[in-house]
Amino acid sequence: MGTPKKKKVAVLVSGGGSNLQALIHAVNKQMIPVKLGLVLSNKPGVYALKRAERFGIPTAVIDHTGFSSNEDFSLAILKRLQAAEVDLLCLAGFMRILAPCVPEAYPNRILNIHPALLPAFGGKGMYGLRVHKAVLDSGAKYSGATVHLVTAEPDKGPIVCQGLVRVEDDDTPESLARRVLEVEHRIYPVALKTLAEETLEIQGLRTRIILKEDER
Ligand code: GRF
Repeated sequence: MGTPKKKKVAVLVSGGGSNLQALIHAVNKQMIPVKLGLVLSNKPGVYALKRAERFGIPTAVIDHTGFSSNEDFSLAILKRLQAAEVDLLCLAGFMRILAPCVPEAYPNRILNIHPALLPAFGGKGMYGLRVHKAVLDSGAKYSGATVHLVTAEPDKGPIVCQGLVRVEDDDTPESLARRVLEVEHRIYPVALKTLAEETLEIQGLRTRIILKEDER
């Protein structure tokens, strides 16, 4: 038996791309058997695109402001992904909610990272510092990061993995965001590995990572 063909991954970004960087690092260290085949941004000039270029990953910009509806924007994204023949998608700080045509075309093959412990503190309007402010306002003692599969409903897909962060008494949204981001960088590669190696079993909203023989 030959080595199976590496899956091709597209990473969708809108900003700094520190999660993209964590994925690039893990792929370059051969911790995840994938090829990063495309970094696609909805905003021109963002730093994530520069990170991709530095590592020789093809980039594309599809600016959402040039479309009259989110459906048309999402269809343009879908066409670009299909043209690049990607197998898997990672949303990494991608600040748009894709229309259902995208998750429908890639069922259980799209990951998103969210800076809180879903299913709490997710959904429409819950992004950036708003999430961390909501966590602090709720009085929760723990927050964290979640990687989940993307379905048509924002932040509602099956959870693949989570990492915990203790909320400190003197935390601000900014200080909490910083510690959560460190956890994001650790768990995103782990989640992508399960899709790349097809070791994720999904039953409804519950998922389970199947250990390979040499990991048991
Ligand atoms: C992260 O906190 C991620 O959870 C959220 O947006 C932020 C993106 O950060 N969706 P970066 O662009 O990966 O640095």
